[in-house]
Amino acid sequence: MESPRLRIERHASGDRDAVRTILEDLPQWFGRPDATEAYVTAADTLPNYVAITPAGEQIGVVLIEQHFPETAEIHLMAVKRAWHRQGVGKALLTEVEGDLLSRGTRMLTVKTLGEADPDEGYRRTRLFYGDQGFVRLEELPDLWPGTPCLFMAKLLL
Ligand SMILES: CC(C)(COP(=O)(O)OP(=O)(O)OC[C@H]1O[C@@H](n2cnc3c(N)ncnc32)[C@H](O)[C@@H]1OP(=O)(O)O)[C@@H](O)C(=O)NCCC(=O)NCCS
Repeated sequence: MESPRLRIERHASGDRDAVRTILEDLPQWFGRPDATEAYVTAADTLPNYVAITPAGEQIGVVLIEQHFPETAEIHLMAVKRAWHRQGVGKALLTEVEGDLLSRGTRMLTVKTLGEADPDEGYRRTRLFYGDQGFVRLEELPDLWPGTPCLFMAKLLL
């Protein structure tokens, strides 16, 4: 995507620094160093979409995992705190979804913290996904030990 405000770049892999910087800005969501390291490592092998300001700041990232030709999963999605609620997440998803559709992918899924956990940050995350057209498929209480997982999906049309 090109806009006067924001550029979205797709890289086959490798935006380790972008992932680390953005996740370190979001301790309320990504507070576990081992999990952050796993996301940073995943940036080596998964397609990276990065939102960049006109000043060159990398402010948002999505990593996509293509499970099958017809289905893909958001492995990681994050926007720096100061940029929340300014359309960056929506712009990233628009780019991701357009790309996936053009390759024949028909469904995009995401796993996030389930409603059984009262965390306020993730309540807002679920509102974002709902606004973007994701629906709740199932709450998976045992996938992440001690942490309820909500499995969501969106048909790409
Ligand atoms: C979830 C996240 C990626 C959304 O990105 P964003 O750039 O803030 O979202 P957008 O500005 O594009 O929001 C698009 C729409 O989603 C909804 N939405 C987003 N944040 C919301 C919030 N805090 N409360 C209610 N609705 C919200 C709104 O309808 C919004 O449109 P509007 O602002 O015109 O009303 C971002 O908030 C984030 O990085 N959160 C922390 C990390 C995280 O939760 N990652 C996902 C883990 S699975």
